[in-house]
Amino acid sequence: MNIPGDQARLQAHYDALGAGQDAEAWYEDPAFDDLCANCRFEEARAVVEVGCGTGRFAERLLRSHLTPRATYFGLDLSTVMVNLTRSRLAEFGARCRIEQGDAAAGLPLGEGVADRVVMTFVLDLLTPAETAAVLDEARRVLAPGGVLCAASLDRGRGLASRLRSFGWNLVHAIAPLKVGGCRPLTLPDTLGPGWSASYYVRRSIRNCAIASISAQPLPESWDEHG
Ligand SMILES: C[S@@+](CC[C@H](N)C(=O)[O-])C[C@H]1O[C@@H](n2cnc3c(N)ncnc32)[C@H](O)[C@@H]1O
Repeated sequence: MNIPGDQARLQAHYDALGAGQDAEAWYEDPAFDDLCANCRFEEARAVVEVGCGTGRFAERLLRSHLTPRATYFGLDLSTVMVNLTRSRLAEFGARCRIEQGDAAAGLPLGEGVADRVVMTFVLDLLTPAETAAVLDEARRVLAPGGVLCAASLDRGRGLASRLRSFGWNLVHAIAPLKVGGCRPLTLPDTLGPGWSASYYVRRSIRNCAIASISAQPLPESWDEHG
């Protein structure tokens, strides 16, 4: 949101919202469906999720897509969200670890420990500097062949979804927390040239435009010489 103290306000917002975040399922679930259909979670050994929220997507992955040996690590800025995810995933035991923290300040993980980094409806609330930091961290923790799996609000294509997206931007400009700090974006542009997308799907759900993508980091030298 680019205003000093924003992160504390964002954290307070998501602490207060808590389980209310699940009311966004009507447009989030179709993006989750696309990620599950395209990101080959069945082959994953270690999944890292940035901004896990209430743990709704994590539960779906653990219940229906990951093998029993695959591990899950979730991070969220909000302690309330961390506690909700911990309770939700308690039945999966030691395979899951959930911590509170700011992903832009760094992921508490070693290099190359993950083969999927998941971010659903998180890139759309980060500042450009935070986005760059979080993407660098995703690149660092992904093992060779690992994949970033992301979903976000999208700018829309048809007139109705573009109008809704315009309205969303307007509210974001005036009172960003009214829309959870989120604003529509174009995922491939947000990832930038350092990532190679293997799929990118855009949809409109009741005129709310959403998108999902999976992408692999290109070698860092690609940026310099490519
Ligand atoms: C719009 S919610 C989406 C939650 C969940 N991923 C979903 O799709 O339902 C954004 C989440 O990202 C978390 N978040 C925001 N900035 C963050 C940061 N810098 N590091 C970690 N989590 C962050 C918020 O606390 C919130 O739980």
